[in-house]
Amino acid sequence: MIEFQNKLEKNSQKIDRFLDSYLPFGNSLNSKLFEAMRYSSIGGGKKIRAFLVLESGRFICAINNKTLTKSKYNELIAAGSAIEAIHSYSLIHDDLPAMDNSPVRRGKPSNHIKFDHHTAILAGDGLLSWAFEIIGDSTFISNSEKRSEICFVIARAIGPNGMVGGQQADMDYTKHKSIDLDKIEWIQYHKTGALISCCSHVASILLNASNDQKSNLINYANHIGLAFQIADDLLDLDGNEESMGKPVRQDMKNETPNFVTILGKEKATKRALEESSKAINLIQKFKQESENLVSLAKYTVNRNK
Ligand code: IPE
Ligand code: IPE
Ligand code: MG
Ligand code: MG
Ligand code: MG
Repeated sequence: MIEFQNKLEKNSQKIDRFLDSYLPFGNSLNSKLFEAMRYSSIGGGKKIRAFLVLESGRFICAINNKTLTKSKYNELIAAGSAIEAIHSYSLIHDDLPAMDNSPVRRGKPSNHIKFDHHTAILAGDGLLSWAFEIIGDSTFISNSEKRSEICFVIARAIGPNGMVGGQQADMDYTKHKSIDLDKIEWIQYHKTGALISCCSHVASILLNASNDQKSNLINYANHIGLAFQIADDLLDLDGNEESMGKPVRQDMKNETPNFVTILGKEKATKRALEESSKAINLIQKFKQESENLVSLAKYTVNRNK
């Protein structure tokens, strides 16, 4: 576990370096906007989505007996960084008073507290658009067909049929105590799962995975995404604010239904573990090659932040 956490930490540093190098400071009246974008994306967060992009890429190379070239590695880092910028945007907006109204994120004042509401809204918009500048730029991803396919796959995962649709439903079902499990699953798949499974999809495109390899990895990531959100809901109830870097019992305070409020702690824990095992079963036959993805599946449910 400690060894895995070191790997995750190293990955975070790489992504932070990319963001620090390519996310500018602004050159004129947009300086404050860039400051706010950098504040919420660099130097915080577990960066597990970028880790999943990179490790899915490594896995595809390994099972096809190919080496991961430096240029392919750099493409995975660029795509992973763009996805992390999108994830940071979603958290800035998620914390706004009109949404979860959360004052602390990643151990610091949330963007709208540090800056102001309009800056937080625009910093989120800025990170979202900037991510597509990176994906669309031939400096980072050389093949134009891959660039356009990745743009499509990411846009679909985070738009109204993906993350944003899930966030809308998550808000609309606030205070609906008797919401059924199917709806909770729909919400989680859209608000969290879609972006997580998109990470494996993007790596599959970049590394020319076969259709079978791609669908197997996306399936793996779908189980990870579900386990990850159930663990987030469990941590909301029982986690430690200091290690998590965000307030606990937010869902209770906001009366946001989640896996734990609907299933109870015990069943929710069991479900998270089942999803993590299902993810592992899909990749386990590749013993050596799957080590990091297996560790990620375990970490997803055994984390304290
Ligand atoms: C938090 O995501 C929001 C969810 C989708 C559950 P993370 O737990 O990945 O947050 P960071 O990036 O590490 O801060
Ligand atoms: C956030 O879910 C999902 C997205 C930002 C898309 P949560 O509201 O549960 O995330 P936390 O608990 O605030 O990190
Ligand atoms: Mg929320
Ligand atoms: Mg929230
Ligand atoms: Mg949560």
